[in-house]
Amino acid sequence: MAPQPSELTSIDTLETPVKLPCGLVLPNRLVKCPMQETLAQAPTFDPPVETFSNLYTKWGRANYGLIITGQVQVDIRFLSVPGDVVTHEHSLESPYIDAWKRWASISKAGGSPCIVQLAHPGRMSAAGAGVRPADMPTMCPSSVPVVLGDTWLDKLALDKVLGTPKAMTIEEIDNVVELFKHGARVAHTAGFQGIQLHGAHGFLLSQFLSPHTNRRTDDYGGTPEKRMALLKRLVTEIRAEHPAPFCLAVKLNSADYMDAGQGLQQEEGLEQVRWLVTCGMVDFVEVSGGNAENKTSGLHQSFGKKTMDRAPAKKESTRIRESFFTEFAEKVQAMKSPVPIQLSGGFRSRNGMADAVDSGVCQLIGLGRSAVLEPELPREIILNRDIADDDAFARSHIVRGQWFANLIPVKVVGSSLGIQFFYHNMRRLGKGLASDPDMSIPKVILVDTLETLRAGLTTTLSRILQSLNFYRRPQKVD
Ligand SMILES: Cc1cc2nc3c(=O)[nH]c(=O)nc-3n(C[C@H](O)[C@H](O)[C@H](O)COP(=O)(O)O)c2cc1C
Repeated sequence: MAPQPSELTSIDTLETPVKLPCGLVLPNRLVKCPMQETLAQAPTFDPPVETFSNLYTKWGRANYGLIITGQVQVDIRFLSVPGDVVTHEHSLESPYIDAWKRWASISKAGGSPCIVQLAHPGRMSAAGAGVRPADMPTMCPSSVPVVLGDTWLDKLALDKVLGTPKAMTIEEIDNVVELFKHGARVAHTAGFQGIQLHGAHGFLLSQFLSPHTNRRTDDYGGTPEKRMALLKRLVTEIRAEHPAPFCLAVKLNSADYMDAGQGLQQEEGLEQVRWLVTCGMVDFVEVSGGNAENKTSGLHQSFGKKTMDRAPAKKESTRIRESFFTEFAEKVQAMKSPVPIQLSGGFRSRNGMADAVDSGVCQLIGLGRSAVLEPELPREIILNRDIADDDAFARSHIVRGQWFANLIPVKVVGSSLGIQFFYHNMRRLGKGLASDPDMSIPKVILVDTLETLRAGLTTTLSRILQSLNFYRRPQKVD
């Protein structure tokens, strides 16, 4: 007889494989969360093979049950941050597809399956991040600008960086569907085992799902059902083109965590999960929460908080303790989802992760920031039987020098500094260096600024030299 959950050790629980509905077998419960790497280069933003080779080799040999890539933008005009990877109109052709194939094979080399997260930032596309002309507005289901602070400086900065989005036309929605389908084709052709649609954190698909940003009254808005229309269309059309064993997953917000009565509420979030888990086309749903505009979710508050200094004992209580989105996850559990649920946000200890799986609130554990600070955490600590349960936990996610963010009068800049620390560390991993968890925010800014200046100077100098024909060898004249 198979052992009951309570008879299993925490490692046994986490090492139990999961077979997704598409047939893909995940060797264990730990998932490397999608995190944008910020390493791709203009003008085509293809997968940067050299730096990804360093970064994804580390994650590939770390013994994750599944690796989800950072978000890949499907529209080259609209990136979320500089350095996002993009699927563009030539991505299926050589030499572009070759870089994609290399990325897939590097990521899968250690035996973990790997899927690509596809995204569109919608109104969250920063000017200058992609190839969007300065006078082209961002897109959103409705023309609802982002608000990040009350001062005139905040408003001015946001106006310059994001501007006021235009409400999308039906043709633009149809075009976005084609772009996502193209993205899925690129991922599949490259050899990735599936894709995840990014429907969380206030990006375009989540803008359609939220009543705050979706005020349409046509087929794509006006009721909870219609706010889901774009996501349903994408799931249906992508699944029709890529049947099993290709994996199709969705990341969703539990709620927007805005003021009472505003934004996506948990009840509507639950209905969205209900459709996804019962539609028979989706292989797992990742649950997260919050968005850049509203920072009251546990995730946003945790950059400066000490979330844990020792591992909790197993089964201290029946509630899972580490996840930020426990309450929502428990409601999803009551739905008895026929497909696995991945819960992401806040997990740090082996016991905390095993309790979440044992309690049945989720089947998969997402690891984000820990995968940056300790890229090989599963193999080295969480699934390492030489380390006792009491000692098996990831280091804290505290970012040093948070005080610096308070000195910056512009919220759009100050509030993004916590995440810059993690981008910086991913770039270090990309260079073949180790993460530096003790680096403070002021130092991250200093190092990044110097690097940008150096890169800018090198580019400018090489352009000057080229224009002087410096590189041309003297021609032999007979
Ligand atoms: C640097 C960084 C980049 C991220 N990029 C993405 C992304 O591209 N797509 C996404 O769905 N979530 C992204 N996230 C959120 C993570 O996937 C995850 O949901 C979140 O970090 C919570 O997990 P954690 O508490 O283990 O860090 C990012 C988070 C960080 C810290």
